[in-house]
Amino acid sequence: MDINAIGTLLGPRFEVVAGDTAKALEALALAPGARVLDVGTGSGHNAIVLAALGFDVVTGEPADDRSMYAGREWSENARKAGVRERIRFEPFDASAMPFESEAFDAVFLFGMLHHAPEERRPAVMSEALRVVKQAGAVVVCEPGAEVLKMVRVDDPGHPEAANPADYLVAEQVREQRLQGKWMEIYLFRKPGA
Ligand SMILES: C[S@@+](CC[C@H](N)C(=O)[O-])C[C@H]1O[C@@H](n2cnc3c(N)ncnc32)[C@H](O)[C@@H]1O
Repeated sequence: MDINAIGTLLGPRFEVVAGDTAKALEALALAPGARVLDVGTGSGHNAIVLAALGFDVVTGEPADDRSMYAGREWSENARKAGVRERIRFEPFDASAMPFESEAFDAVFLFGMLHHAPEERRPAVMSEALRVVKQAGAVVVCEPGAEVLKMVRVDDPGHPEAANPADYLVAEQVREQRLQGKWMEIYLFRKPGA
């Protein structure tokens, strides 16, 4: 099923994710079948987009997250979209990831960083950079003003968007910023990549 057909099936929130993730992917030019980590499963939309575009996806969130954004039913949507077998779910906390260094071609944090407690965000960024390959990239998508307005209708206490550059500690990275339709997109590459 192509991405537009999946959008028709899963609705406008999926299309918000699909458009801005596609924009980030254009800049990355990953090889087909690349291994991608999706940090913060949520509704599974970003994992489904990545799988539908032909990548091999690992996704996860903390097993003890009881917020309205975690523990959601995403697996059935992935099955309906025909991509369930291309997504592996593993619970984890992004500030201490259970993955080898340089295990992924790209790491996505789509709408996730601002949900991590402020004091853990430096470790989240360090871990994302640790598990991505030397030639890969970490992609952080954080909500723009319109998205925040929409999500605060159901969740008035929703946190402000985070600027991932504020949480880089000792990392040497090249940063590129793209304006998504809905999200602010930040790409971080290791030097020499
Ligand atoms: C708004 S949802 C993300 C949206 C999701 N990417 C999608 O495509 O639907 C926020 C996610 O961040 C996850 N999250 C919050 N803190 C986390 C942490 N420390 N480690 C990993 N995931 C975390 C939540 O469990 C939730 O899955």
